[in-house]
Amino acid sequence: MDMTAVRLEAPATPTAPALLLRPWTQADATALVELHRDAMLRRWTSAAVDDEEGAAHWVRVQQRGWAARDRFAFAVLETRADGADGLPAGHVVLKRPVAGAASAEVGYWTAAPARGRAVAPRALRALVDWAFAAFAADGLTRLGLLHQQDNTASCRVAQKAGFAFTAPRPAAPPAFPLDGHLHTLVREQRPKI
Ligand SMILES: CC(C)(COP(=O)(O)OP(=O)(O)OC[C@H]1O[C@@H](n2cnc3c(N)ncnc32)[C@H](O)[C@@H]1OP(=O)(O)O)[C@@H](O)C(=O)NCCC(=O)NCCS
Repeated sequence: MDMTAVRLEAPATPTAPALLLRPWTQADATALVELHRDAMLRRWTSAAVDDEEGAAHWVRVQQRGWAARDRFAFAVLETRADGADGLPAGHVVLKRPVAGAASAEVGYWTAAPARGRAVAPRALRALVDWAFAAFAADGLTRLGLLHQQDNTASCRVAQKAGFAFTAPRPAAPPAFPLDGHLHTLVREQRPKI
């Protein structure tokens, strides 16, 4: 299967449009620069996208992840009534550095203009369903989600996407400078949507 052709969907809510998830492409580079002007995104994520070159590099990292099958990143788009593509509304990623491992990790952000419409939890649920189906035969049974303790919005996303709080996670600088929360979602226990 050509994994870069993967497309996922999340249904609309009464107040927000449906979501389409597809791998990032180089055509997204300009939008990525725009989205990374947001201070909240820069504060809570480690990606340093300052210009077109940085964005192109970031997309190449995502594309290499798909090729190596150890990182599966999706742009999240809100479907528009006119069928046109707007700016990406967010990003979700499955990180599975060890093939055949029982566990993997998820990550996410939502573009500033799209926040508050449950883009992240809905996209995450679509990612989770896909991950457990795509990697079932490969032994995937558990997904972890790590956020800094003071990132209360991210903690809400974890709860809404069905990830239970599992344990406090001590800081591990430089990658993870402050204490955090580990949330976990076990395949057999996940809520049915
Ligand atoms: C955390 C984040 C992904 C939430 O995404 P989202 O798509 O807005 O998710 P939701 O709409 O479900 O909102 C989650 C919480 O964000 C907060 N929130 C709501 N609207 C918001 C807005 N317009 N702006 C900022 N935060 C908002 C609320 O606390 C909300 O919780 P609630 O549903 O109990 O009110 C987003 O704020 C973000 O991208 N933050 C920066 C990057 C980041 O923290 N990534 C996660 C790293 S672990």
